[in-house]
Amino acid sequence: MKVNTDFLVIGSGIAGLSYALKVAGSGSVAIITKREISETATNLAQGGIASVCAANDSFDAHVEDTMVAGAFLSNEEVVRLVVEGGPRAIEDLIAWGVQFTRNSDNSYDLTREGGHSQRRILHAADITGREVERALIEAVRKHPNIAVYEHHIAVDLITEGKVTRRRIRPDRCLGAYILDIGSNEVVTFGARFTILATGGAGKVYLYTCNPDVATGDGVAMAYRAGATIANMEFMQFHPTTLYHAHAKSFLVSEAVRGEGAILRRRDGTAFMEQYHPLKDLAPRDIVARAIDNEMKIHGDDCVFLDMTHREADYIRDRFPNIYETCLGYGIDMTTTPLPVVPAAHYLCGGVKVDHWGESDIANLYAIGEVSCTGLHGANRLASNSLLEGVVFGARAAMRTLERLGDVAETFPAIGPWDSGSATNSDEEVVVAHNWDEIRLCMWNYVGIVRSNKRLVRALRRIQMIQEEISDYYWDFYVTSDLIELRNIATVAELIVRCALERRESRGLHYTIDFPETDDLHWKRDTIIRKSF
Ligand code: SIN
Repeated sequence: MKVNTDFLVIGSGIAGLSYALKVAGSGSVAIITKREISETATNLAQGGIASVCAANDSFDAHVEDTMVAGAFLSNEEVVRLVVEGGPRAIEDLIAWGVQFTRNSDNSYDLTREGGHSQRRILHAADITGREVERALIEAVRKHPNIAVYEHHIAVDLITEGKVTRRRIRPDRCLGAYILDIGSNEVVTFGARFTILATGGAGKVYLYTCNPDVATGDGVAMAYRAGATIANMEFMQFHPTTLYHAHAKSFLVSEAVRGEGAILRRRDGTAFMEQYHPLKDLAPRDIVARAIDNEMKIHGDDCVFLDMTHREADYIRDRFPNIYETCLGYGIDMTTTPLPVVPAAHYLCGGVKVDHWGESDIANLYAIGEVSCTGLHGANRLASNSLLEGVVFGARAAMRTLERLGDVAETFPAIGPWDSGSATNSDEEVVVAHNWDEIRLCMWNYVGIVRSNKRLVRALRRIQMIQEEISDYYWDFYVTSDLIELRNIATVAELIVRCALERRESRGLHYTIDFPETDDLHWKRDTIIRKSF
């Protein structure tokens, strides 16, 4: 089966949906999403979206906070264009129906999070992402030019080089092979523009607050197709996820610390003042590393996030979702400090793109967490990610609309997916074992504190698993589990290779072998490309 479309959007979080809404007036849009449309990291975002709104705030201050949090690896030009695009992005979201929390005088309530010098985060109680996703899905569903393909997963990108079996530089993207999970058929999607909006890769680690869909599909596919990938060593660990046997790393928003919560040891001592002048509101890399250190030196399984000094009514009203969820696990946060641990949260690296979201494969764009735009540098500032998704969604829309007339409507003959001599597998358990092995290996050897020895060990194991996956991949029909396994293995390999390459510590990459920051040699991106 073959589908042709003008704009193929892979992923249904804030970046993909906002892009789709911007271009749908000018052509046909197909949105591909692996599960239900709302099953995205956006949907789980609690904190909010950073944008300069208050009279005492300024673009310069937001730029400075982003640069500091990013350990000065961010591209200042990109930081400025995202920060200055904030007010327009908020207007767009409001126009699409997003309802942010307001104060009694009808002004928008602004909260604070780590690394921000001002209150500048718009939010919808503590379920900002759910509200954004709700509004965007409603708008998308109403649009006659947008077709949504749920339970469809991208297998691989289709490029001119692949179709013609020639080495073409720069190559050109022509669409993607997409597995319809329901029918098990691989459908060929031809597209004038292909937009990766596949989100992050937290599932590469054993403990993550990301949804199950975060398997790095976009990065892995773009890498296989020959696109440049950058800064994969910078995986952000969120400092505070609930430590509870059944909580599956439930996120406790940084806004809780923004509104006064304090991190304490088991004996009740506050410890962040020993690590940073901003104490509990230090940038995330510093807080996560401090918690990791505290747990190691005291032999504890977790630390405690204490908000019991704030009025119970305030907590219930400001953080209804966190309050109810923790209560469901038997912990009343109005009276009891929450046990918390860090967990994998956000990939700062990804598919390297220009100021318009375009990769170095023509007509292939990457927006949102899958991309590396230069905004986050070595560590993302809290609540800058939803902002980046909308700003780059709009920029990619602007560029693709400008170029629509130049890109042919007819596609070269793209052959159907070739499943060769593949047969049905009766060994699905092998996929599950490989998956577990990668995630455990990444957690143990490529976590918050790294060393060369551990990274080399991790790389060896991952490469062995990749060999097994490769045999498996060509011998059996593809399934969504197998596609995701291949992708997490690729992303794990890229993280380790970038981490090994960076011979310094900066932001989220901390190695005991090179504990200092080395601006002279390493104030630059780590670049990685597939050799063909
Ligand atoms: C949070 O609510 O702490 C997450 C916000 C973010 O990652 O930007």
